[in-house]
Amino acid sequence: MDYRKLMAFIWLSCSIMNTASSQPSSPYCPLEFSNVTTPQNCEEGTWDDFLRDKCCKPPFNSYLDALAVRANQTGKIYLNSTEQTSCLKKMKDNVIDVFTCGIDKLTAGINGCSQFSVQDVFNRLGDEIVGLSASCGSLGGGGGYRNRSCGDCVKSWEAINGVIPGDSDADLCRFAVLTALTGSRIDDLTWKENVYRCLGGQVIRKGSTIIGIMSAISALVVIGVYIMARRWHAMHAGAKDDGTKRDLPKRSRYLEVPIKEILYATNNLDYANYIGEGTAGKVYRGILSNKQHIAVKHIIDDGFMETFLREVRNLALVRHPNLVALLGYCDNEDECFLIYELCTNGNLSEWLFGKNNEVLSWTKRLEIAIDCARGLWFLHTYSEGCIVHRDIKPTNILLGPNCEAKLSDFGLSKVIDIGKTYASSEVRGTFGYVDPEYQTDSQVNSAGDVYSFGIVLLQILSGRRVINMKASKPMPLEKMAKSLTRGGSIIGFADPKLDGNYSAEAFELTFQLALSCTGHKIERPTMGQVVERLEEAHEISLTAMASNLHISDQFSPSP
Ligand SMILES: *[C@@H]1O[C@H](CO)[C@@H](O)[C@H](O)[C@H]1NC(C)=O
Ligand SMILES: *[C@@H]1O[C@H](CO)[C@@H](O)[C@H](O)[C@H]1NC(C)=O
Ligand SMILES: *[C@@H]1O[C@H](CO)[C@@H](O)[C@H](O)[C@H]1NC(C)=O
Ligand SMILES: *[C@@H]1O[C@H](CO)[C@@H](O)[C@H](O)[C@H]1NC(C)=O
Ligand SMILES: [Mg+2]
Repeated sequence: MDYRKLMAFIWLSCSIMNTASSQPSSPYCPLEFSNVTTPQNCEEGTWDDFLRDKCCKPPFNSYLDALAVRANQTGKIYLNSTEQTSCLKKMKDNVIDVFTCGIDKLTAGINGCSQFSVQDVFNRLGDEIVGLSASCGSLGGGGGYRNRSCGDCVKSWEAINGVIPGDSDADLCRFAVLTALTGSRIDDLTWKENVYRCLGGQVIRKGSTIIGIMSAISALVVIGVYIMARRWHAMHAGAKDDGTKRDLPKRSRYLEVPIKEILYATNNLDYANYIGEGTAGKVYRGILSNKQHIAVKHIIDDGFMETFLREVRNLALVRHPNLVALLGYCDNEDECFLIYELCTNGNLSEWLFGKNNEVLSWTKRLEIAIDCARGLWFLHTYSEGCIVHRDIKPTNILLGPNCEAKLSDFGLSKVIDIGKTYASSEVRGTFGYVDPEYQTDSQVNSAGDVYSFGIVLLQILSGRRVINMKASKPMPLEKMAKSLTRGGSIIGFADPKLDGNYSAEAFELTFQLALSCTGHKIERPTMGQVVERLEEAHEISLTAMASNLHISDQFSPSP
């Protein structure tokens, strides 16, 4: 298992959870910074990796100090998100942009220690504060802060792991304890300075990393056990579905987002935020209170609970630049939500067939095809088992801010052994994209995705829908393409919107590739081979473009 990926995943999940619900209000910073100076040189240490880099340390220490003063005066600990933003603005200077330091991880939110007052800290984390006070209390004046007392102080600090065991808001709890403690000794300037120097000087995570990884692993184990238990339950209880399927394991709460946050992000599922209808429900755009832009899929129909579970378990840990990232979920009474990264440029179908005035250039089309192929190749060769997407089509190919393509909608996906097949009783997939051989033998394997990808490739080339109803004789796209190889002009197949601006050689190569993808199962290339061929076509196109001024390639994605 890749720990770095795992940590990034946890961080991402945590950053969703440690958020606040806020309404816009007039900017007000309740903190008084005694002296915010531009750091001349960046001090060593990053509060045990809490800060992005060591240049963040001086402003952060002065922030902590101001927080302690406020705690002493008002009994409050963390700022709400409105206050946070205005305080960070107040601190912003030219040398270091405090907005990127990660200070906003300490914002009052919905869960755990983020909403604690000083009183809550004493009530709920009494032992922690006594421990920290005892071991950091003796850090006296002078330069000896790195002696053994600092070591003990760090140990108590790292032992603070949150209100709920294994919860990921340990940092919020630690800093809440620290703020309550320093707030109670606000006049002891030297001591405070030493505490900051001792704890802030920590450069690497030790115990906490292990705890983080262990909790993540146990989360995976719990999810795994849960899935197995569900399968066992399904096998032994027949097809009967009862309420138990909604009980997602507690530990998967890394990904779990409160309903309040979903409603806040989408303005109570306001129709103005409606993006479209997915396989299992309506999709809305939204902005989390930490300002992250997201897409939320609202799943109501109980018949789609399977979709929900599959997406959570197949996609949550599968990360690739060409797959839409699942950031979290919310499991409410009789509805649930899946939260994804937002792809701001819509889906491929809108670009190919929509009323969009902008035309996808030839090279852009190839780049999109390459992105999709890479995403699929990654899924098919996934280390934990081959993931078959089963619903590749233009509406499931989303385009990010730079028009990079990402596959979405894993509601039908299946994890099977690499190279194996799986007999499915579900008749699913989308008409026109499903491998005809699957329709007869119901065998799910990666070759089915290759077929669907081939159809998409034909659409990218021709700008035509799966079945062209405009022609006098309606004909499936792939039959039409095949018929062209028997003496027709392949060039006539090209999307008229391209206006001849493409390399004929690359077009031919891509066309033949698409036909091989939609051919007989045993002759289909792997997605790895598809990526290679497409890259070749891309290379040819770039060379042709450079040497031929007739081929103008203008495409500027709208941001
Ligand atoms: C944040 O606190 C300010 C007062 O400092 C208040 O006016 C504002 O409504 C609060 N925002 C939220 C979302 O609670
Ligand atoms: C801030 O620091 C400068 C120089 O370091 C000092 O002159 C000034 O009085 C300080 N201001 C406050 C409010 O402490
Ligand atoms: C550590 O240094 C401080 C002074 O900086 C001193 O007061 C304390 O006694 C020292 N602790 C140990 C264990 O040496
Ligand atoms: C505020 O700070 C003063 C001076 O250190 C201290 O005596 C007082 O107990 C503190 N009050 C609270 C509520 O922590
Ligand atoms: Mg879809």
